[in-house]
Amino acid sequence: MRIGILGGTGPAGSALGARLASVGYDVVIGSRSKERATEVCDALKAKWSGLSLQLAGGDNDDASSCDLVVLATPWDSAAVTARDHIDLLRGKVVISMANALVRVGHEFQPLLPPRGSVAAHVQAAIPECKVVAAFHHLPATELGHLGDPIDSDVLICSDSAEATAIVMDITKHIPGCRPLDAGELSNATAIEAFTAVLLQLNVRYKTRVAPKLTGITRDPRVKA
Ligand SMILES: NC(=O)c1ccc[n+]([C@@H]2O[C@H](COP(=O)([O-])OP(=O)(O)OC[C@H]3O[C@@H](n4cnc5c(N)ncnc54)[C@H](OP(=O)(O)O)[C@@H]3O)[C@@H](O)[C@H]2O)c1
Repeated sequence: MRIGILGGTGPAGSALGARLASVGYDVVIGSRSKERATEVCDALKAKWSGLSLQLAGGDNDDASSCDLVVLATPWDSAAVTARDHIDLLRGKVVISMANALVRVGHEFQPLLPPRGSVAAHVQAAIPECKVVAAFHHLPATELGHLGDPIDSDVLICSDSAEATAIVMDITKHIPGCRPLDAGELSNATAIEAFTAVLLQLNVRYKTRVAPKLTGITRDPRVKA
């Protein structure tokens, strides 16, 4: 599967792209500038030269042409970026990982975007796509340490059971990550806003936290 990342030159998109490439996906890092994306890819490949990463740089059109697409722009440009590529994205699974937040001094505060979440706003902008909210809580630094597992649950929600299953399957390939089906896209509101709490904990406790939920011992979709 080829995975394209719009806004893939930032810390989150480049780390996710490298991580997915490290577990066997063919990844296109997209950007508004093909040159910038190529530079980012070259730097990642040089850093992880032992891993033969299947990573290519391109513009956001190149990334949108992939089988599945991740939106990794700042939250306030996610919907407009998706809309700008609507023809190439039509019918595809599109992952929204953006968190609408603001930092006020030492405090992180969640913002409420149009329609209640970035993911819902993106879904409204590209109605013929299946938007899946995922990866909001994975810190870019840990994602980018390709040799180390990431000890975290990944809360995933969408209005398409099929699309959620596809993103859960991709997530399973990231060592240490446990994908959890968190229901319909309306739950993206809580998932995105919770990121402000996690970032606040990082500041308070001078660390980088990742969520892990207790009590889930089996997948209800798998018959016992
Ligand atoms: N950082 C984290 O640890 C983390 C973790 C989980 C989720 N997230 C979420 O992932 C997203 C990306 O995070 P980030 O820290 O990588 O963000 P970022 O560095 O601020 O932006 C990512 C990329 O988006 C592109 N971009 C910037 N402004 C844009 C605009 N107005 N229109 C279109 N593209 C634009 C830029 O790429 P080009 O200039 O090359 O086009 C930039 O490199 C955010 O929404 C964030 O909430 C971040």
